[in-house]
Parts: sequence; structure tokens; C-alpha cells
Amino acid sequence: MSDASTAPAATQAASIATPVNLILFTLLLVLAYHRLRPSPPPVIPKGPPPTVFKTFTPPELVPFNGENDKPIYFAVRGQVFDVSAGRNFYGPGGPYENFAGRDASRGLACGSFDEDMLTKDLHGPLDDLKDLGEEQMSSLADWEGRFQEKYLVVGKLVSEGEKKE
Ligand code: HEM
Repeated sequence: MSDASTAPAATQAASIATPVNLILFTLLLVLAYHRLRPSPPPVIPKGPPPTVFKTFTPPELVPFNGENDKPIYFAVRGQVFDVSAGRNFYGPGGPYENFAGRDASRGLACGSFDEDMLTKDLHGPLDDLKDLGEEQMSSLADWEGRFQEKYLVVGKLVSEGEKKE
């Protein structure tokens, strides 16, 4: 004969522990685990390398001409622009490749990408553009404004003499 006080409890336990309830209980545990487990630290996306404002002399600017893995730079009135995004224009084989790694001021002012627009003596003073007219200087200012909107200024161009001072 069974014990009258324990029989209903045993029956109750047996009726709760049905396969469906066990599955539901397991699901509950899994859900609780997912809710409560510590989340992994957020992955911070890696941005572009920080831009350092540098002082370049004309010879130091030359390597940034698109013929290596370096960015493409040119100078306009002493400001060095990173024009890598315009690789089609300034990279090797591009229509304005002469400007890459050089002071492009005179060429832009005069609307010419000829070789003789570039400062010949890289060790001498910078081109002061003093012989240019009002129209040419205004044209240069237009280019400068356009580049300032489009590209990042990454440094300034000074002559070797100025850098030594
Ligand atoms: C034969 C005449 C020329 C034609 C048909 C021409 C055409 C073009 C075109 C279609 C663009 C692209 C514009 C854009 O997508 O924003 C461009 C860009 C440019 N042109 Fe010319 N161009 C000529 C002459 C010149 C000359 C003589 C210069 C000399 C300074 C020059 C300097 C530039 C520069 C610097 C850019 C690139 C601007 C940037 O980086 O956004 N172009 N040209």
C-alpha cells in the first residue's frame, strides 16, 4: 500500500516533468543564457591612418608621384594636397601626371600641364609666380578653392633654404 501523504506529490512531479515541459524548460534555459551571457567587446572599425601635417621641400615631394605605393601629392601655392583620390588624373599615364609630386601652381594658373611649367631647380627657391597676370592668378585661386573642397591638405611646401632656417 502506498503512503497517502507522498503519493499525490510524486504524481504531481511526474505530471510536470512531461517531455514537452522538459523541452520548454531547456529552451528557457538557453534563452536565459543568451540574454545573460557577457557580450564580446565591440569591434571598433579601423579608420584610415591619421594625417600628419608635414613640411615638404620640393625634393621631398617628388616621391609622392604615384609611381610607388605612396599617396599622390602636389603643391598649390605652398599647400600640399593629397590628390590620391584623383589617381586617374594624376597617376602614371594620367593627363595631369606632370603635377604629381611637384608644385603645380604655375601650370594651373597658366592652364598648361607642360613640363616647362614645373620648377626646374628643386633645390632653389619656390616659384613666386610674380610674373603672372591677374587672370592667371584668379584662375589659380579657382583651382585652389576646388582642391580645398575636394582634397585634404597634408602639409606645406617650403624651399630647402627655408627649411634649414
Ligand atoms: C584639352 C582640353 C582639356 C579637356 C578636354 C579637359 C577635360 C577635363 C575633364 C573632363 C576633367 C574631369 C573633370 C571632373 O571630373 O571634375 C578634367 C579635370 C582636370 N583638368 Fe582638364 N581638360 C583640359 C585641359 C586642361 C588643362 C590645360 C589643364 C591644366 C592645368 C587641366 C587641368 C585639369 C585638372 C587639374 C583636373 C583635375 C581636377 C581634380 O583633381 O578634380 N585640364 N579635365
